[in-house]
Amino acid sequence: MSFPQHRPRRLRTTPAMRRLTAEFRLDPAELILPAFVREGITEPNPITSMPGVVQHTMDSLKKAASEAAELGIGGIMLFGIPAERDAVGSAGTDPNGILNRGIAAVREEVGDELVIMSDVCLDEFTDHGHCGVLDDNGVVDNDTTLEIYGRMAVEQARAGAHVLGPSGMMDGQIAVIRHALDTAGYTDVSLFAYAAKYASAFYGPFREAVDSQLKGDRRTYQMDASNRREALLEVELDLEEGADMVMVKPAMSYLDVLADVAAMSPVPVGAYQISGEYAMIEAAAANGWIDRRRAIEESVLGIKRAGANMILTYWATELAAWLKESK
Ligand code: PBG
Repeated sequence: MSFPQHRPRRLRTTPAMRRLTAEFRLDPAELILPAFVREGITEPNPITSMPGVVQHTMDSLKKAASEAAELGIGGIMLFGIPAERDAVGSAGTDPNGILNRGIAAVREEVGDELVIMSDVCLDEFTDHGHCGVLDDNGVVDNDTTLEIYGRMAVEQARAGAHVLGPSGMMDGQIAVIRHALDTAGYTDVSLFAYAAKYASAFYGPFREAVDSQLKGDRRTYQMDASNRREALLEVELDLEEGADMVMVKPAMSYLDVLADVAAMSPVPVGAYQISGEYAMIEAAAANGWIDRRRAIEESVLGIKRAGANMILTYWATELAAWLKESK
């Protein structure tokens, strides 16, 4: 053959060449660190199924937040674990509840250096572990739950959250929360909608992370893994209701959905690399079956390549440190 051959390998010859021609690269600014704060503990409590992740004390949470800010991480997503739970998740709407205190402590520590996000959902606060309150038949009651979400949201905004992350998948939650925030004067607090959130087996370790009492599953309110098109409807509804950012969750088993959403969304798109995704890679690495650092980097890069503008990952701090050292 005499015509010039395309040889893609030419652009792979040296690390410098590969760096120059990389289509995507990670940046700490797009990472969001999910963090748990637990009421009534004096030492950080390791989460067995998520090696390296802990339930924080107020002090260790503040330290983690300032470390994240120093590394240039984009945001932190806070979850609270209360000492007492009840059927309606009272600790979630209590201005002195653990999550609201956690938000205030982090805001005091890092100010506006980090975008402070918080989980608007009842599962951490209910004794049955569902994301909403139950009706007489034990089914999650959508509209009664919405009213509680509205009150939770206002307390989180008052505590100092910049962004609220409604993760319960109740229909109409974005509209109701937006209305509650605006009525209370929190017009500048943004909503990061967990728009396409699937009922996933990969949330397993999160149950331990928040000491959830859940029996059964969330299939009546979270999406079915069989559905792709439906994710677009969920995103469209949340956009109409006023979502400022939208999320796809989990990430790795839903990269097609993420790519679809990234193609149509006029607002920033996030993806949540969840507890089970974290646990799988950590477990395989601990067994020596994969190269831990390369697997972490590759997994997060894959999520970015699929279209995420923001990535929630439990490795945010470690990744940011690696990115800094390789600069
Ligand atoms: C609900 C919520 C969950 C997660 C984040 N927010 C659990 C669920 O929907 O069952 C899971 C995150 C993870 O697994 O890392 N408040």
